[in-house]
Amino acid sequence: MAEKSKILVIGATGYIGKFLVEAAAKLGHQTFALVRETAVSDPVKGKLIESFKASGVTIIHGDLHDHDSLVKAVKQVDVVISAIAFQHVLDQSKILDAIKEAGNVKRFIPSEFGNDVDRTHAVEPAKTNFAEKAKVRRAIEAHGIPYTYIFTGCFAGYFLPALAQLPGGTAPPREKVIILGDGTPKAVFNCEQDIATYTIKTVDDPRTVNKTLYIKPPHNVHSLNDLVALWEKKIDKVLEKIHVSEEDVLKQIQEAPVPLNFIMSIRYSVFITGDQTNFEIEPSFGHEASQLYPDVKYTTVDEYLDQFV
Ligand SMILES: NC(=O)c1ccc[n+]([C@@H]2O[C@H](COP(=O)([O-])OP(=O)(O)OC[C@H]3O[C@@H](n4cnc5c(N)ncnc54)[C@H](OP(=O)(O)O)[C@@H]3O)[C@@H](O)[C@H]2O)c1
Repeated sequence: MAEKSKILVIGATGYIGKFLVEAAAKLGHQTFALVRETAVSDPVKGKLIESFKASGVTIIHGDLHDHDSLVKAVKQVDVVISAIAFQHVLDQSKILDAIKEAGNVKRFIPSEFGNDVDRTHAVEPAKTNFAEKAKVRRAIEAHGIPYTYIFTGCFAGYFLPALAQLPGGTAPPREKVIILGDGTPKAVFNCEQDIATYTIKTVDDPRTVNKTLYIKPPHNVHSLNDLVALWEKKIDKVLEKIHVSEEDVLKQIQEAPVPLNFIMSIRYSVFITGDQTNFEIEPSFGHEASQLYPDVKYTTVDEYLDQFV
């Protein structure tokens, strides 16, 4: 059997980055985490870095804005995964420069982990962020760097604790629920550990080179109406539904402060335009993860919601 690729995670201390580091180590890859020196002295991140070390992960100090540190880190691995925050996606040009100089990378996974940014009907401000992620795609392709783009749909930890209501809630509603539009467009929800497992599974898979991996397992595709019905069944109660029209959602986005307007515009793309499911996956540009890796036992939305009952 071919040896497993060595993996570098940039953005290792971030929300999704830590799951990627943990999955890479767990799946037997030699794993490297690029961390900024400042993270080590942070109490929470410092603990996380210690837990990485305990799992056999090699810590590399570096910064996106320190070219030499990036080249040095990239030269030690076969695969680079970026989990940089959405505000910094354009800074990934620095990673591309380092990959070009190092010349040894077999696969690059840019920081996407959401919608397919080439297939979106988003409004501002999400529209600009998706356009930036698409710009990074075009730069990767122009450089001829082998890549995989990861479509994850919604992170379960972000969306399900409040049943896809606006953030702030720690439990799904038990009285009233807001339904955007008619509540019928299907969205995708995946738990972070599964996102990380599928992402790591794909790095050595020739079927996904220069393709998008769509993490869209069949039991995790639900409309807002489906989600509410699932929850109502669990708590054996019918909730009051408050419908907000598309027109009103657009107005609310325009009036909302930063960063609420960003979150609301993402929700518009997910729950009103149905951007996570309004196209077919063609083998020419992508594959669905649970079909490629049927051995992964993913957490279903139904199972995930049980913890809140
Ligand atoms: N689908 C969804 O529901 C969903 C939800 C959230 C995010 N996302 C996407 O997931 C991706 C990652 O977002 P996230 O929220 O996980 O990010 P995050 O928690 O903000 O983490 C960002 C990481 O980047 C690191 N970083 C920042 N500046 C750096 C620099 N100059 N050099 C090196 N590292 C630097 C941070 O390191 P420090 O620890 O040193 O600061 C941190 O590890 C984004 O593309 C985002 O759009 C998707």
